[in-house]
Amino acid sequence: MKKIPIIFDCDPGHDDAIALVMALAREDWDIKAITTVGGNNTIKNVTENALRILEVTGRTDIPVASGMEGPFLKELVQTGKFHGKSGMDGHHLPDPVTKAASDDAVGLMAKILEESDEPVTLIITGVFTNVAVLLLAYPHLKSKISKISIMGGSYYRGNWSPIAEFNVWADPEAADVVMRAGIPFDMYGLDVTHQAYLKREEYAELRTYNNPVADFIADLFDFFSKSCIEDRGHPGCLVHDACAVAGLIDPSLFRYIDTHVQMDMDGDITRGGCVVELRPKGWPRDDEVNSKVAVWVDRIGFMKLLLDSCAYFGKKEV
Ligand code: RIB
Ligand code: CA
Repeated sequence: MKKIPIIFDCDPGHDDAIALVMALAREDWDIKAITTVGGNNTIKNVTENALRILEVTGRTDIPVASGMEGPFLKELVQTGKFHGKSGMDGHHLPDPVTKAASDDAVGLMAKILEESDEPVTLIITGVFTNVAVLLLAYPHLKSKISKISIMGGSYYRGNWSPIAEFNVWADPEAADVVMRAGIPFDMYGLDVTHQAYLKREEYAELRTYNNPVADFIADLFDFFSKSCIEDRGHPGCLVHDACAVAGLIDPSLFRYIDTHVQMDMDGDITRGGCVVELRPKGWPRDDEVNSKVAVWVDRIGFMKLLLDSCAYFGKKEV
């Protein structure tokens, strides 16, 4: 079976971890590297969390490389209590025993792209800084990227500000570089990720799988649900980042619009917001379309895919 080459850039992060487990359950995917970026927490913590995830899933064969500590222009603002002190509070995994293969995520991404005999799919579930540096430093490698699947942005409302979603708000210049690179990107913004939730009674099923990965994910849901349900009043635990993986696995779970997305970097109030073209027919012009923006998800189908991905690790020697 020809496998799909993937580079997964993230800032674990509870929902990053769930997205990673969904990706690691794919036997038709060849995950070339997990690269980390300062975002939810420090580069040290998110990298250690990525190592923990590969250890609990038995995939320490995949190299981890740490990348940019913070955004282009400003100090990193972390997501704090939403993901806790470690960036992934609530788990019961030990400190990682493996080490990152490199502290040059961008260099490793470039090497993988150079050496790949076919275009690679990029997944971004954290701040966009690593991928932006890659595109600026190695523009000739754009042709080796088949598509980018991003969790980020929104067209209706923000979370880190009234208008801005965290991943693009934290480094809007980096998000702008990615959006204007000329590489097609699928955008899973808050508009769809707020539909992609699991209720407590739904993810409780994980505890019946009797496998350490499912238990790990259940622990993450228990912690992350507090900020989603109690603090923000959502009907369940929002699994933002998993949408960027689920859409690659089964795009039929989503409805998309082909349109133009750009970043606001200069607004006093709106800096970090996404401007998504939603005007009726005739807009955007065909040559302006740069993104498939997900607008709806089959929540039950999404949930089943997520739960099945966790069950997968009970069927194989981890
Ligand atoms: O806004 C949601 C995003 O911010 C997710 O990637 C989550 O992990 C946090 O980083
Ligand atoms: Ca994330």
